[in-house]
Amino acid sequence: MSGLAFPAARRWLPRSMASRVYVIIFVGLMLAQGLSFALMVHERNESAAATMFDTVEHEVGTSVAMLDRLPAAERAGWLGRLQRDNYRFVLGPGEPGMPLVTTSSRMLAGRIAKEVGPAYRVRADAISTRPERYQVHFTLHDGSPLALEIIPKGVPPIARWLPVVLMLELGLLLACTWLAVRLAARPLAQLAQAAEGMTPTADGPRMKEDGPLEVARAAVAFNTMQDRIARHLKERLHILASISHDLQTPITRMRLRAESLEDGAEQRKILADLHEMEHLVREGVAYARSAHGGAEVPVRMDLKAFLEALVFDYEDMGKPVALTGSISGVAMVRRQALRRVLGNLIDNAVKYGGSAEVSAWRDEHGAMCVAVCDRGPGIPDAQLDRVLEPFYRVEGSRNRDTGGAGLGLAIATQLTRAIGGGLRLANREGGGLAAVVTLP
Ligand SMILES: Nc1ncnc2c1ncn2[C@@H]1O[C@H](COP(=O)(O)OP(=O)(O)OP(=O)(O)O)[C@@H](O)[C@H]1O
Ligand SMILES: [Mg+2]
Repeated sequence: MSGLAFPAARRWLPRSMASRVYVIIFVGLMLAQGLSFALMVHERNESAAATMFDTVEHEVGTSVAMLDRLPAAERAGWLGRLQRDNYRFVLGPGEPGMPLVTTSSRMLAGRIAKEVGPAYRVRADAISTRPERYQVHFTLHDGSPLALEIIPKGVPPIARWLPVVLMLELGLLLACTWLAVRLAARPLAQLAQAAEGMTPTADGPRMKEDGPLEVARAAVAFNTMQDRIARHLKERLHILASISHDLQTPITRMRLRAESLEDGAEQRKILADLHEMEHLVREGVAYARSAHGGAEVPVRMDLKAFLEALVFDYEDMGKPVALTGSISGVAMVRRQALRRVLGNLIDNAVKYGGSAEVSAWRDEHGAMCVAVCDRGPGIPDAQLDRVLEPFYRVEGSRNRDTGGAGLGLAIATQLTRAIGGGLRLANREGGGLAAVVTLP
């Protein structure tokens, strides 16, 4: 994902876009949720503390004023009634202590002092820090000391159902994120599939033009592009086929005229050139036609018998072509197309490598493969893809007196593609080229 600002994040994120979007949305939502929860707890603690302070300061103010007005002998009887969960009054000077430590205790002592007024000579001491316990000392109007012992109670714990609700919310988030991401990522996968299955000349798979607006628009655009490419290519192939075809008549005429010339070196050269032109024209027509190899109806046939017949034809012409390995199996094959493809590969092997070996097997996916191998010079690795293009010949081929059009492999590639198969070239260990045709 080149759009990511942090290169380190790229390493940690999963590979697929769906998972990445899922992780980003989910982590973002979780962080936002966690932050809101933390803020809520903080606010709850603050407001609970504020409420507690308010109540304590008013109650204490009233209680001190009341105890002050009671006769000394009756005060002890009231202490029980004035006691609360977090504080109690003690008659007498209380316990000696040290200066107050916590901010909340200093704040509460200050507020109590303000509430009762300066007449009571208020003073506060910390008795212990853990658990926190402190005393506020008053001197009543008759001179007797009074102590208020405060043991602060924490904020009540959060409700037990709260974690359950949070977990439910989390589950809901997970499910919604998953649904949203799937909705967004699926059309992309479909588009990739359609693009992969697209064959420029045959009518490839079309994308369904429904679904959400953006997806439908992308599908329409993809289908239009596919149509345009196909039309464009068909047009070019049509031009090539027409020119090649129309050249055949004048070439034939020229050959007849050259043959009627006097025998001699010049006549032989002209005839050789014309022969080459004829080959080029024939191949040109074949190339233009190969785009429509998919139109031939596939037939079920015994591959071994088919290959034996093919090799036999070459042997008949005295060419060193052999069938190797054990071959068995029936396959649905477009006969003419496959014959043309293998013919072009065998021609190359014989022409550039001196001889050809044909073998066949079933690969791990169950598809039939046919290989044509030779022990010739092979093709430089960097040009293995380029030789599949029309009119491309490896440097030197033209001078090697092998005189080809450079269309044999282009025809083979186009034909295998048109019938739904594939063609792969590779240099062999120990020298030579292996051309492997995978059948659909
Ligand atoms: N078996 C092979 N060994 C070495 N080089 C090869 C082999 N097959 C093809 N090539 C190289 O690839 C080039 C392209 O092959 P391709 O069959 O397309 O054209 P061509 O054989 O030159 O002409 P055409 O087949 O149209 O008569 C060839 O010119 C040759 O240089
Ligand atoms: Mg060739």
